[in-house]
Amino acid sequence: MTHRWLDEVEALAREALPSAVFRYVAEGARDEISLGEATPAWDAVRLAPRVLRDVRTIDTGTTLMGTDYAVPIGIAPMTLQRAADPGGEVTMAVAAERAGVPMVLSSNAGSTFAEVAATGAHWWLQVYVAAERRETVPMLEAAAAAGAKAVVLTADTPVLGTRYPMAGGPGIWEVADAGWIGANAATPTGLDPADRGKAMDLGPADIGWLADTTGLPVVVKGVLRPDDAHQCVAAGAAAVWVSNHGGRQLDQVVATAQCVEAVRSAVGESAEVYVDGGIRSGLHALIALALGADAVFVGRPLFHALAADGGAGVHRALEEYSRELVEALRLAGCARPQDARGIVAPAGEPGRDQP
Ligand code: FNR
Repeated sequence: MTHRWLDEVEALAREALPSAVFRYVAEGARDEISLGEATPAWDAVRLAPRVLRDVRTIDTGTTLMGTDYAVPIGIAPMTLQRAADPGGEVTMAVAAERAGVPMVLSSNAGSTFAEVAATGAHWWLQVYVAAERRETVPMLEAAAAAGAKAVVLTADTPVLGTRYPMAGGPGIWEVADAGWIGANAATPTGLDPADRGKAMDLGPADIGWLADTTGLPVVVKGVLRPDDAHQCVAAGAAAVWVSNHGGRQLDQVVATAQCVEAVRSAVGESAEVYVDGGIRSGLHALIALALGADAVFVGRPLFHALAADGGAGVHRALEEYSRELVEALRLAGCARPQDARGIVAPAGEPGRDQP
């Protein structure tokens, strides 16, 4: 049997983490229907690979919003990384730098922008915009000054989706340490992010406002609909990020694997398209590229790897994703990630985009 570290990290993390933290990472909203459907949706896609292509050299290098990365795989924003590892986001960023991948820093991080920037990693700031926009400005300006390469506006979280408490154990905010989050917040806030007064009136104008405030490209995360994707790009977004927040917001939403192709069609080549949610192998990453994504982002497996073996664990997990992607690209007749675009087989019609 093939040995995959990625198949082990969740069990290792379960052993390493306090149960409330493990449960917080694992959980989805409500009945966890979207959570459960994420990975099976990638598994359900069928490829129509190419043959008779030169695949001696596979170059996974990818340019995202003008910055070069080693592979089209990034680290999704996740709060509470200091609950997994003493260095938290800093340890994650060191691994990102080593692997040459982008790291998206949660606005609820427990490490400062300066600490993350000092690792040399290319990092993007994820933001939840406050109802009072000006309250978010200091964080935005500080991130831009510290060298963030992009701002990722999480658009699917006007309020936190309901998640049911773990039976018989303490909730995450009962065990959380004040040092795990809020390192870059301008004003001290309560531990529970639910009480932070997020904007419920986000609109296309906020995209331009974020770009103007930071001078950085803006990514809108949490887009599932082609019309929304089109609206984001028309409002100035450099990229749209197809996500349902790992099944943690509205439950019973469509799986991201089912949205990428239509979102790509809606934006054409006028913006980049990223996707996350249930991507558990390099083959899943290839499928995302085939459906039209420029890059994929990974959440829970990298949190688990951080908990299981710190920075070495994250590096090992990223290496495994990369290795699997290289193999999948080669077997699919693709020398570069962009060659994978369109190699999906619609029902009964393999190779429909054949030149
Ligand atoms: C998240 N996610 C998230 N998203 C965001 O925009 N800001 C955040 O602070 C967080 N925090 C967070 C914490 C934890 C523990 C998890 C698991 C997730 C969502 C995350 O960025 C991403 O969309 C999903 O996790 C991707 O799905 P997978 O790879 O975890 O299946």
